[in-house]
Amino acid sequence: MSEVRVRVPAKINLSLAVGALGADGYHPLITVFHAVDVCDEVIASPRADGEIRVRTVGEFASEVSDDRTHLAWRAAALLRERAGINQGVDIVVEKTISVAGGMAGGSADAAGALVACAASWGIAAGEVDLYPLAAELGSDVPFALRGGTAIGTGRGTQLADVESHGQFSWVLAVADEGLSTPAVYRRFDELNGVGVLDVAPRLIAALASGNVYELAASLRNDLQAAAIDLRPSLRETLDVGVRAGALAGLVSGSGPTCVFLVEQPAHADAVAEALVELAQVRFVRHAASPARGAHIVDA
Ligand code: C5P
Repeated sequence: MSEVRVRVPAKINLSLAVGALGADGYHPLITVFHAVDVCDEVIASPRADGEIRVRTVGEFASEVSDDRTHLAWRAAALLRERAGINQGVDIVVEKTISVAGGMAGGSADAAGALVACAASWGIAAGEVDLYPLAAELGSDVPFALRGGTAIGTGRGTQLADVESHGQFSWVLAVADEGLSTPAVYRRFDELNGVGVLDVAPRLIAALASGNVYELAASLRNDLQAAAIDLRPSLRETLDVGVRAGALAGLVSGSGPTCVFLVEQPAHADAVAEALVELAQVRFVRHAASPARGAHIVDA
């Protein structure tokens, strides 16, 4: 029973193929998840009184409600119920991943809380499988546990390995205002954006070889048109990043964060300098990938 600190990465979707809305209210996906080294940290310390408390700190703290709707709170409560225990916990979330940005920041906090609370409460690995709990908490939570690069199917919760080599450099343009994931999916339905549910063989080959040019040429996001329709300034953001030297630009997930793949880290500055001039860009940041999934770090 001790304080545990967990680091957990943001994700981007190198490919996101979206099918027609199902009866369960979700869209079937085939996606290639990829973790980038923009990370939240989740710290869990046991409480003697049985309460679960969560507190968010950092730049985005004011955009998160520290109540029972917080995904980290829900993760702790779900784990406690399934483990059949009644300990309490104080959770501090040090937020670096933007809120409502299309990078699964809330999901990262849920995954981080599962790992941090399990360790803090002394739940042994193998005693409770965290993956089914993660899938109950949200479509992107299992991948935040896993990290690296993986193919996701179903709602995105069924993960499969994909051979992946190489390290990549990105510039992220975080927008001045977030986008709601359900709203983007609704607009996707209205625009009739359903694509072929597949992953391009060219992308699979690019990952296997670690070839950055092939990777740039095979990025795909079926939600991009819906995100741009809701936020037309994203079109300019994408154009400016590519004109400044990125190999490719793509809306991340449901947006509005735009991600730009650069040939090498030295090329990132020029892209970042051009993007930061745009009124719709709140800030830019460099990222490297792939990154590890939720893992315990020394305090
Ligand atoms: O699973 P999660 O809570 O992250 O999903 C948020 C919302 O995004 C869902 O309520 C649904 O409207 C939409 N969604 C979807 N299809 C998916 C994943 C999410 O329609 N595969």
